[in-house]
Amino acid sequence: MPCRLVSGLPVGVLALVAALLFGATLHFGLPIVEQLSRIALNYSSIKPSFFNPKRTEAMTGQPFTVTQPTRIRFGVNTINDLPTMVKDLGGEKVFLVVDPGLAATGLLERIVAPLKTAKVPFELYDKIDPEPGLKLADQGAALAKRAKCDCVVGVGGGSAMDVAKAVSILLTNGGKAEDYLGLGKIKKPGVPKIMVPTTAGTGAEVTFTAVFINEKTKSKGGMNGDPLYPDAALLDPALTVSMPPRVTAMTGIDALIHALEAFVSNQAHPISNMYALEAIDLISHNLGMAYAHGGNLEARSAMLMGSLLAGKALATAGVGLVHAMSYPLGGMFGIPHGLANAVLLPYVVEYNLIGAPDKFAVIAEVMGADVAGMPNRQAAEMAVDMVYQLNQDVGIPATLAELKIPAKKIPEMASIALTVTRPVENNPRKPTLPDVVAIYETAMAGWMHEH
Ligand SMILES: NC(=O)c1ccc[n+]([C@@H]2O[C@H](COP(=O)([O-])OP(=O)(O)OC[C@H]3O[C@@H](n4cnc5c(N)ncnc54)[C@H](O)[C@@H]3O)[C@@H](O)[C@H]2O)c1
Ligand SMILES: [Fe+2]
Repeated sequence: MPCRLVSGLPVGVLALVAALLFGATLHFGLPIVEQLSRIALNYSSIKPSFFNPKRTEAMTGQPFTVTQPTRIRFGVNTINDLPTMVKDLGGEKVFLVVDPGLAATGLLERIVAPLKTAKVPFELYDKIDPEPGLKLADQGAALAKRAKCDCVVGVGGGSAMDVAKAVSILLTNGGKAEDYLGLGKIKKPGVPKIMVPTTAGTGAEVTFTAVFINEKTKSKGGMNGDPLYPDAALLDPALTVSMPPRVTAMTGIDALIHALEAFVSNQAHPISNMYALEAIDLISHNLGMAYAHGGNLEARSAMLMGSLLAGKALATAGVGLVHAMSYPLGGMFGIPHGLANAVLLPYVVEYNLIGAPDKFAVIAEVMGADVAGMPNRQAAEMAVDMVYQLNQDVGIPATLAELKIPAKKIPEMASIALTVTRPVENNPRKPTLPDVVAIYETAMAGWMHEH
């Protein structure tokens, strides 16, 4: 299928994406247009007929800030460049935070080998749980200090990367991880940190957030602040092919949600929209193929690029009600982040439609719905069908009941969800407690036979 980028359409947008994304740090060997067109093999043609930028953020005059401090290196086998990246950042001894699941896939050896070859010393920390608790960050920081590490590398999904990010700032700021929950509490830059995502994914390699379960309160919460932006992100699609279908699905839908929620966020701005739309296009047209055949490197590359762009979008525009409502599912019942988000997605999209009908119409169209000639409200409703269909394609359960969430906990879950302040404030429809209870109830039972 012809690619929108090579068919010569928004050259200005492409140039801006390329400049923002790759800056002066691209050494991938091919012209940018060729790289992107290779990644975007199944790219659809966006015809944003419902999207008039003049009616949206560009005209509201809402101030926004875009911070882009993370050097990005993207490409198959770029893991071999890890030692060079460490040295470029002045690192002499690496604290290597690695997802323990990677040992079984052979990836651990793949990651460690270049460091050994280049004689870069490292201390391995691989006791990472999925959905990590704060104590993993504290234990990691103590170990890194004892081992005199001056650089942190996080390899894995969001869980390992978030621990690595927190260790980096704990080494210079002192104290406990709990002290830094919230926004803007971290005062000093961390030691240099490099993130290597192996899921596609959280986008944590380019965000200023690290998310933890607080063991005391059983709630999930983030530390947020500019010192958490990684200094560098190394994205090697070959490291993601070993993801089993279930992990591919959960983490891939999570990435789609980052882009989708950033796009409809009250904090959205023209630059986050650009990232978000590209991410929605890439992810929605490649996730099925990555799920169907894990070894499809083009689809894996597109997914990793999509999750990166989605991370860029969420870093400045934020996420919304799906994420707020998924937090109690993680904190109270240990449901993986991506899975909790994915199950809630169609129900929250339906609830949000009236808050941003033009944007949901664009989302439907970008995801491939045939919306020609439809009024925008009708086109917007297609977004519900599109996300539900994608969930079905990749085996996401249709209801919370299938996750064995007890219905009697809904009032407590709803109260907790509304305390996840920033995503709630970003959401295009302001949710009340009865609204959130009603969404959970619908998600518990499901309505999809109506769609
Ligand atoms: N910091 C941020 O900006 C941000 C954004 C979104 C989510 N998060 C957080 O990230 C965490 C979730 O991260 P995740 O969804 O990436 O999952 P994860 O890191 O918990 O990993 C999920 C599972 O996938 C396995 N895995 C990872 N890569 C693999 C590979 N290449 N091959 C085989 N198995 C592999 C892991 O062993 C693990 O069992 C949550 O705690 C969530 O709150 C952080
Ligand atoms: Fe997420």
